[in-house]
Amino acid sequence: MDKIVIEGGVPLKGTVRVSGAKNAALPVLAATLLARGIHRLHNIPSLRDVETMKKIMSRLGVGFEQEMDTLVVDSTQVVDHEAPYDLVKTMRASILLLGPLLASYGKARISLPGGCAIGARPINLHLKALAEMGVDMHLDRGYINAQAKFLKGAEIFFDIPTVTGTENIMMAAVLARGTTVLRNAAKEPEIQDLAEYLRKMGALIQGAGTDTIVIEGVPELKAVDHAVIPDRIEAGTFMIAAAMTRGDVRIEKCRPEHMTALLEKVESAGAKLDVGQEFIRVLGPETIQSVDIKTLPYPGFPTDLQAQFMAFMCIAEGWSMIRETIFENRFIHVSELRRMGADIEINSNQALVRGKEALLAAPVMATDLRASASLILAGLVAKGGRTEVHRIYHLDRGYEALEKKFRDLGANIWREKE
Ligand code: EPZ
Repeated sequence: MDKIVIEGGVPLKGTVRVSGAKNAALPVLAATLLARGIHRLHNIPSLRDVETMKKIMSRLGVGFEQEMDTLVVDSTQVVDHEAPYDLVKTMRASILLLGPLLASYGKARISLPGGCAIGARPINLHLKALAEMGVDMHLDRGYINAQAKFLKGAEIFFDIPTVTGTENIMMAAVLARGTTVLRNAAKEPEIQDLAEYLRKMGALIQGAGTDTIVIEGVPELKAVDHAVIPDRIEAGTFMIAAAMTRGDVRIEKCRPEHMTALLEKVESAGAKLDVGQEFIRVLGPETIQSVDIKTLPYPGFPTDLQAQFMAFMCIAEGWSMIRETIFENRFIHVSELRRMGADIEINSNQALVRGKEALLAAPVMATDLRASASLILAGLVAKGGRTEVHRIYHLDRGYEALEKKFRDLGANIWREKE
């Protein structure tokens, strides 16, 4: 296992380029099952979760070739329809294979993802919608056995605007017989990106990015090329890092229009922003103002930036109230930040952060993907020596060479074997 070591106190300076979005790449990879042929995908980030998805899909018979920065996907010979527990348990987004397999092959056997550190993360809404589309499902030894002679269009209402639920059902609906209407659908940019790819394949989709999506089933789709959008959570992580370290960083190859909630909060904290079409320049403030946040479905403040923003508020002037409304257990990073001297009081889904002059270097342990990023940000500003972040495999799931990108911005940060 690796750890990341940081000697804090360096204001980040320079330019960083954002990688492709993990949460766009995963559904786009799954969607290649909807059209037999050769798909050429660009801007796919090299992440552990992407490797896991490729491993599962290879077992189904899908071929992958990396040609420079293009991932060539050959979905001509899909021969199996099972996503095994040993792989699914390491990456819950494998559930995104369910919709495409049913749409293309009428059957799927997917291990139930199981819980994860940040919450129970049930998939009941995915399964309820598929049942309404005519899918027979039963649970067998932890696997969902699903089959359908054909999928029929349906009127679906999501009790909660689920991101992968919206993606899964959108992919099931594009080859269904008739029209599917998704109400209270999630509106994330990654959903819009997936819809863009499906439309290029020949799907008839209206309303992606709004809370009502209408999909007209078509008989077949064709393999096409696609470039996934930049990762707004990675870009947001760099924005917070630049502000926290009182640096001057230009974040390139990003989409500011996907990050309006964070832009507003980082500006309220005192940072100066120069926002272009595909870049954001962040000048950190001398004094960090404390700011309250509440995580919400897009376009609200993203839950995937809550832990990073909390690290930021730990060194702000005054008190900040952070409310997590999406997941029931997404404050695991708090006990690790406290080891670095943070003053945080939790009351149910609210964390009151009392800003302090400084955080103190310490050995800490990563527990989930975004908590790892939060601890690295804390290490970048911590005083008094070296911060060591252990169990960094969590980080590698969703950030491409993060410590190298920070090192290129002047940070004293490196990776070591445990
Ligand atoms: C996606 O997860 C993202 N993952 C998560 O990013 C992100 O945090 C989350 O959306 C919220 O934005 C991917 O896109 C691969 P949800 P997802 O279904 O789809 C409840 C990261 O760090 N719910 O929108 O699993 C659920 O428990 C990851 O990159 C049900 O109750 O999230 C949660 O409370 C972490 N039943 C809420 O809805 C269901 O059937 C939102 O979950 C589905 C969801």
